Amino acid sequence: MRVMLAGKHGQLASELQRYVPAGIDITAFPSSELDITDSRAVDSAVSTVLPQVIINAAAYTAVDRAESEPDAAMAVNRDGAANLARAASACGAGFVHVSTDFVFAGDTPRPLRPDDPVSPAGAYGMSKAAGEEEISIIIPGRSLVVRTSWLYSSFGANFVKTMLRLADERDLITVVADQVGSPTWAAGLARSLWLAVEKGINGVHHYADAGVASWYDLACAVIEEAFRLGIINKKVKVAPISTKEYPTPARRPAYSVLDSSEFYRKLGTQPAHWRDNLKRCLKELNG
Ligand SMILES: NC(=O)c1ccc[n+]([C@@H]2O[C@H](COP(=O)([O-])OP(=O)(O)OC[C@H]3O[C@@H](n4cnc5c(N)ncnc54)[C@H](OP(=O)(O)O)[C@@H]3O)[C@@H](O)[C@H]2O)c1
Repeated sequence: MRVMLAGKHGQLASELQRYVPAGIDITAFPSSELDITDSRAVDSAVSTVLPQVIINAAAYTAVDRAESEPDAAMAVNRDGAANLARAASACGAGFVHVSTDFVFAGDTPRPLRPDDPVSPAGAYGMSKAAGEEEISIIIPGRSLVVRTSWLYSSFGANFVKTMLRLADERDLITVVADQVGSPTWAAGLARSLWLAVEKGINGVHHYADAGVASWYDLACAVIEEAFRLGIINKKVKVAPISTKEYPTPARRPAYSVLDSSEFYRKLGTQPAHWRDNLKRCLKELNG
């Protein structure tokens, strides 16, 4: 099966390339070779690769910067996604797109289901919700949209790697304790996306690792496990703070737990607990 992947150097795209299943011939494009906001470039790439499936792992992911650059976020997350969906539809390919918990405001204290109405609170979430909407119009029935949350990996920049860096630089790390969600290892998501491609799963789904944590809980776990593995040589103190004490341009969801049960059921797999996956990722970072 020929698969075209957009956003080659992102953390999820890196994991997707690491776990390409046997029998899949993947062509991955970095943004420097394929800007998904350029519909002609997208059409030309698709006519060269002739993919049976297109995976969109490209996105504008700067959540705070999106507040001052909403058009740039829309260009990639809505228009870029639409360009890829249109090209997939035109050549009869399937389309796999990754979205986010930020399409929800996070005001509801219960796990969010795929059919809950979207209610983005910021520019990034609005652009991702707009991308989903385009896909549902352009390629209904032959697209898979997977919303995920709190992604980290040994590739790219993410919260886990930031905590490891801060542990070296500081004696105290303060972390927000009143936002909860499900930290999710991008490697597990990548393998699940490949399984979904092989099984031909379509529709809108949620995927997160099992369990719930605040950013503070996640930071404590990173420091504890990294110290145990010898990745850091001192157990830096982590202190909880409130969202009010750490203002950001974009409002973050307070409760961002995704109900992923339906997707795991379709995949025929069990979710790993976030803490177990965190240990796996840290072991990997430890070489
Ligand atoms: N990270 C999270 O915590 C998180 C949480 C929930 C959902 N998600 C979603 O998961 C998906 C993967 O996220 P990620 O963490 O892997 O993101 P990432 O590491 O920021 O990677 C995004 C990739 O998109 C590429 N890109 C940006 N603009 C592009 C354009 N115009 N044309 C082509 N490529 C472009 C970037 O290329 P350059 O580096 O060259 O700019 C980068 O390689 C995204 O859809 C994101 O919305 C992420």
